[in-house]
Amino acid sequence: MAMAMTAAELRDAYLDFFAAKGCTRHPSAPLITDDPTTLFTVAGMAQFKDMFLGRGALPFTRATTCQKCMRTNDILNVGRTPRHHTFFEMLGNFSFDDYFKRETIAWAWEFLTRVLALDPERLWVSVHTIDDEAWDIWAREIGFPEARMVRLGDDDNFWPAGAPADGPLGPGGCCSEIFWDFEPDGPAGVHPGNDPGDRFVEIWNLVFPQYNVCEPKVDGRYRLDDLGRRNIDTGAGLERMACVLQGKRNNFDTDLFQTIIAQVCAVTDARYVEGAPSGSSEEERNALIRRIADHVRGVSFAIADGAQPTNTGAGYVVRRLIRRAVLDVDKLGLEDPCLHGVVPAVVTAMGSAYPELPRRADMAAALIEREERQFRSTLRRGLDLLERELATRDPGPAFDGDKAFRLYETYGFPREVTEEILDERELRIDEAGWQQAEAAHRAVSRSKDVVVFTASALSDAKPRLGPTAYVGYDQLSADVELVLLEVDGAAVETAGAGTAVRFALAPTPFYAEGGGQVADHGQVLGPDGAFTIQVTDVQRDEGLVIHSGVVAHGCARPGPVFAAVDQDRRGDTAAHHTATHLLHQALCAVLGDQVEQQGSKVDPGELRFDFNHPQQLTREQQTRIEQMVGDWIIQALDVQVAVLPIDQARARGAKALFGEKYGDEVRTVAVGEPPVSIELCGGCHVANTAEVKQFRILREEASAAGIRRIIAIAGDVAVARAEEEDRLALACGKVLGLVDPDPRELADLAQALKAKPEELEGRLRALVDEAHELDQLVASTDTTQLLLQGGLVERVQGLQAHVKRLRKQRQQLQARQAMAQVDGILAAAQEVAGVSLLVGQFSGVDGKGLREVGKTLQDRRPEAAVILGSETDGKAALLALVPPALHPRGLQAGALIGSLARQVGGGGGGRPDQAQAG
Ligand code: SER
Repeated sequence: MAMAMTAAELRDAYLDFFAAKGCTRHPSAPLITDDPTTLFTVAGMAQFKDMFLGRGALPFTRATTCQKCMRTNDILNVGRTPRHHTFFEMLGNFSFDDYFKRETIAWAWEFLTRVLALDPERLWVSVHTIDDEAWDIWAREIGFPEARMVRLGDDDNFWPAGAPADGPLGPGGCCSEIFWDFEPDGPAGVHPGNDPGDRFVEIWNLVFPQYNVCEPKVDGRYRLDDLGRRNIDTGAGLERMACVLQGKRNNFDTDLFQTIIAQVCAVTDARYVEGAPSGSSEEERNALIRRIADHVRGVSFAIADGAQPTNTGAGYVVRRLIRRAVLDVDKLGLEDPCLHGVVPAVVTAMGSAYPELPRRADMAAALIEREERQFRSTLRRGLDLLERELATRDPGPAFDGDKAFRLYETYGFPREVTEEILDERELRIDEAGWQQAEAAHRAVSRSKDVVVFTASALSDAKPRLGPTAYVGYDQLSADVELVLLEVDGAAVETAGAGTAVRFALAPTPFYAEGGGQVADHGQVLGPDGAFTIQVTDVQRDEGLVIHSGVVAHGCARPGPVFAAVDQDRRGDTAAHHTATHLLHQALCAVLGDQVEQQGSKVDPGELRFDFNHPQQLTREQQTRIEQMVGDWIIQALDVQVAVLPIDQARARGAKALFGEKYGDEVRTVAVGEPPVSIELCGGCHVANTAEVKQFRILREEASAAGIRRIIAIAGDVAVARAEEEDRLALACGKVLGLVDPDPRELADLAQALKAKPEELEGRLRALVDEAHELDQLVASTDTTQLLLQGGLVERVQGLQAHVKRLRKQRQQLQARQAMAQVDGILAAAQEVAGVSLLVGQFSGVDGKGLREVGKTLQDRRPEAAVILGSETDGKAALLALVPPALHPRGLQAGALIGSLARQVGGGGGGRPDQAQAG
């Protein structure tokens, strides 16, 4: 009889069992990776990649974890099948050249049959066709009946799946999978390799990564070189094992999901019916509820590890998951945002195992709610898009399947809604096209999703080259060795001028992008100046630093080189990086210690800092922050870097980044003694805060729900900007007669004038000139008076009000003068081909003034056509009025004005009775 265990008990039992076998209990890596090849952690082994290659620096050779994983390649199946998830937990045990197949298989057997007390008769095992060793261990040493063993090929029993034929190159190995049989009395002849349904579930994958999958390919398969290391990587889905243990058929019916499902039902007012027959309306509804539960759970974990709904990378997956869940809510008949209400249940169910969840629950709920609202308006746009497609499509009864799938995949537009709309027009989706697009999409997302290894000459050489030593904290140039030169992924001995290259140096003074700090740029020079490579990017691929650039002259080749970092760029970047730490500290001092960094970007031009805070920062808060940082700069505090054991660093109060992985030894950056700021950081800093020179907040804005962003400048950039502003303020002051203008007023001044900084001076001059001119018109000296008092903004606002007032006066004056001409125009009426024509010419009268005069003329002579023109500051305004009685004779105001307007080089038009031009 299997043990009735909760999922939490199972998690502990597994980790305890392997701890007793000498495996170190290691924490889960974050869900979001900094690995460029994959968005999410997809397997327990991901954080141990280096260890398999013998490059890792962990102090143990056996480990056990419960790893948070996310896979989106099977997303279309989630909720529909009993055992697909996006987010899931993988129980794993790992050996790094320590225990091997014998122990792995024996311990898996012991855990399943002794600890969990699963019925051995219901277990099945698969082994790779080439792996006699594993087969013999199962059959002879364990005594597992061969009748329940199957041999399968690369797609089922190799990991990464199919690697011998399709890559990726790198570590891999045969695996042996353990299955549970849900229907032991089911038809004979059905086994895990040919199961047409859900009879068998794979509960544990034992991988033996003993090979390096490498070129060349012979007969369609890559070479499998022995790594010379006996590694073990096993993965067991916690949800699946819990399902088997709890005697359920569906993972979602385990205790792990019950709390979450109950909450989905509560917020959507829907009912979940466990065990509803497939095809029934209850089961359809169940599937929706399960999918909502899965997606909110996954999104909550992703947000807890730092993701946010965006349009790229992991953020895009988060966005899609929320959107799919919104569509399901829609189908349950609810129109209001409600998904955020499920987050607390995820916390209840899993918060004690994953403390990051409760810490980020409010933020997760806020981000989800905002996304829900936005998506509802996107849905309305999707409808427009479909309408447009329908208007321009080729005739025929089928609607392009690829387009329908794109609407669904890209815009999140549900297929059923598309079908309903097509139905109204007696159209249907071209199914073959849809299937093809869906298959292509699956292939792409699969290849992006579960690949853990990539290949190029440089990444293949990682084991040989080892991690790159970095000397750039102290040295900006150095005599080093160019150890591998790569063009288009292949190693080369030479690369001519103009070629884009990637290369590794040993050691390197170039800082690789990381920790929010941009990569160094610079040059690599060959011996005696034989060649120059301009370095434009530097990235870290695990330990290896990969430089990218272009050969600027000569012929680049491996060997000794002189590497020189662009000093100005580095100096400006370092000033911004130290300023970022000071800003972080000042934010905590002004807003409270709950402020945590949510992201940062440090480059030579500016810094960007994101942090959690519910409201906009006030001007006063911003000023206090600026002053605080300014004070630390004036105090000329030394910046001290130290490498300490992590516990000691934490004891000193070092700020660590949430969700970041740290080793046992960490680099700390402390400002002042005792420190005013201390952070764990691998970036580049100035040696003393005096080098930060100045600090200025340029903008404070919203970045996401509950997250604010500050854009600021420091160092020479801030100094240069301050000088530029002093100059601009003086120039503006001069126009306004102010000798000591305050540059801090420039922003408000720009706003008052709705002008860019470079336009300010010209705008001011025009304003003052106009004010003087208007003064003359009404014989006033107000402008001179206004330019005697106040600062920049006060003077400008005074002038603006003054000009506005006088413009109005001038207009009234001109309108009165125009009206005075009415009698003269009537007296000068002409008869042209039996039509009375009234023509008037004015100056300084605008379109509105012309219409008033025109109306007066029409009142006096209703049968006459009227043409009026006015000139103001070199611009013409025209008006034509033609009474309806004249329209049948071909005389129309619109046509008339058109030909007149062309004569003055303008355009216009209007109705037959009235038209205007300028
Ligand atoms: N890496 C293997 C898997 O993901 C076993 O942990 O299935």
